[in-house]
Amino acid sequence: MTKAKIAGVGFHVPENIITNDDLTQYMDTNDAWIQERTGIKERRWVTRGKDTTATLAAKASRIAIERAGIEAKEIDFIVFATLSADYYFPGAGVILQRELGIADTEIGAIDIKNQCTGFIYALSVASQYIETGMYKNVLVVGAEVQSMALDLSTRGRGIAVIFGDGAGAVVLQPTEEKGKGILTTKLHADGRYAEKLIMPVPGSHGGYHNDALETPSDWNFSDEKWGNSFVNEHMLKNAMVFPYMDGQHVFKMAVTKFPEVTKEALDAVHLKVSDIDLFIPHQANLRISQFVAKRLGIPLEKVVNNIQKYGNTTAASIPIALAEAWEAGRVKEGDLVCMTAFGSGFTWGSALVRW
Ligand code: UT7
Repeated sequence: MTKAKIAGVGFHVPENIITNDDLTQYMDTNDAWIQERTGIKERRWVTRGKDTTATLAAKASRIAIERAGIEAKEIDFIVFATLSADYYFPGAGVILQRELGIADTEIGAIDIKNQCTGFIYALSVASQYIETGMYKNVLVVGAEVQSMALDLSTRGRGIAVIFGDGAGAVVLQPTEEKGKGILTTKLHADGRYAEKLIMPVPGSHGGYHNDALETPSDWNFSDEKWGNSFVNEHMLKNAMVFPYMDGQHVFKMAVTKFPEVTKEALDAVHLKVSDIDLFIPHQANLRISQFVAKRLGIPLEKVVNNIQKYGNTTAASIPIALAEAWEAGRVKEGDLVCMTAFGSGFTWGSALVRW
C-alpha cells in the first residue's frame, strides 16, 4: 500500500536574535525566571518589512524542495500550518505559492489553523492525498511570525517571553517500500478549552465576556458605541489583540495529553515506546518536554530540544526541530521518528514516521 514519505526537510529562522536580557528593556522580567520556567535563552524575531510568515516559509521550503530532489514547479499541492498568516485573509498558502514563483502552475493551497498542533494536522492531511494517489509532491509547511502579536509591556510578560518566529518545511512523496513513511497520525481536539489559550481579536466573536467560559473579566465590549468591527479602539486598549493564556491549565493538560496520544499512535501500529529512535515534541516549554520524556520512559538523548535557541515557534517548532536534527545526522535510514504536539484549541496529535 502506498504511504507518504518525508523526502526533504528544511528550516529557516530570522537572523535577529533576542536574548532574555534584551527583553528586560520592554518589561519587568529576567533571564533566571525565563530559563528556570521555560528553558528558553533566546528567540528569533523578524525584521518588520523584511520578512513575513510566507517569506520565512518560502526560505524553508526551497531547502526542503532541493533536498527532495525536485524543482518548485513540481510541487502539486501546498498545506500550510500557521496561526500568524501574512493577512487575516487570504491564507498564507497562496502567498507562499506566489513567493515560490509557482503561481502560474495554479496548484491548490490550504491553510491549517491548529496552532501548536498545526504541523501534525498538516502532515496528516497531506499524507492522505499521497496515500490516495491524488498528489505526488506535497509541500507541508509550519511557519509563524509571532513577534508582531506580543504585548511587550509587563502586562504581557507571561506570554511574550515564550514565543518566537521561524519556519520549517517538508516535501511528502509516495513510497511503496514496506514499513516506510508516515505509519500513522492521531489527531484530537477539545473545544471546551478554546479560551484557555487564545487571541480573541480580530474575530467575529466581538470580544464579549462570558462567565460560563471563564473568559477574562475585562473582555466586555457589549457597549454598542464601539461599533460592529472586528477590531476597535477599546479592544486595542484592553490587550485583546494579544494572546491570552492560562499557563498552568495548559501545562497540566499538555503533560497528560502528550504521553496519551504518543501511546495511542504507537498502539495503532503495534510498536512500543522503546522502538522510538527520535522523539520530537512540540517545543512548548523545556520542562514539559522533559516531564513527558520521563513519563514515557524515553531517554533524554533520544529527545530533540531546541527551545533554548528559538523559543516556542508554534506550528513551526516541530518541522524546525526535525530539519535541525536531520542536518545534525540524528535522523537515519530506518529510524522511527515520533512527533507529538499539544496546544491551543485545545488540540493535540502525534505522527509516527519510519525514515
Ligand atoms: O505551545 C502552546 C502551549 N503552551 C504551553 O504549553 C505553555 C504551558 N505553560 C507554561 O509553560 C507555564 O505556565 C509558563 C511558563 C507560561 C508560566 O509559568 P508558571 O510557573 O505557570 O508561572 P505563572 O504564570 O503562574 O506566574 C508565576 C509568577 C507570577 O507572579 P506572582 O503573581 O506569583 O507574583 C507572574 O506574574 O511569575 C510572574 N511572571 C513573570 N516573572 C518574570 C510571569 N511571567 C514572568 C516573566 N518574568 N516573564
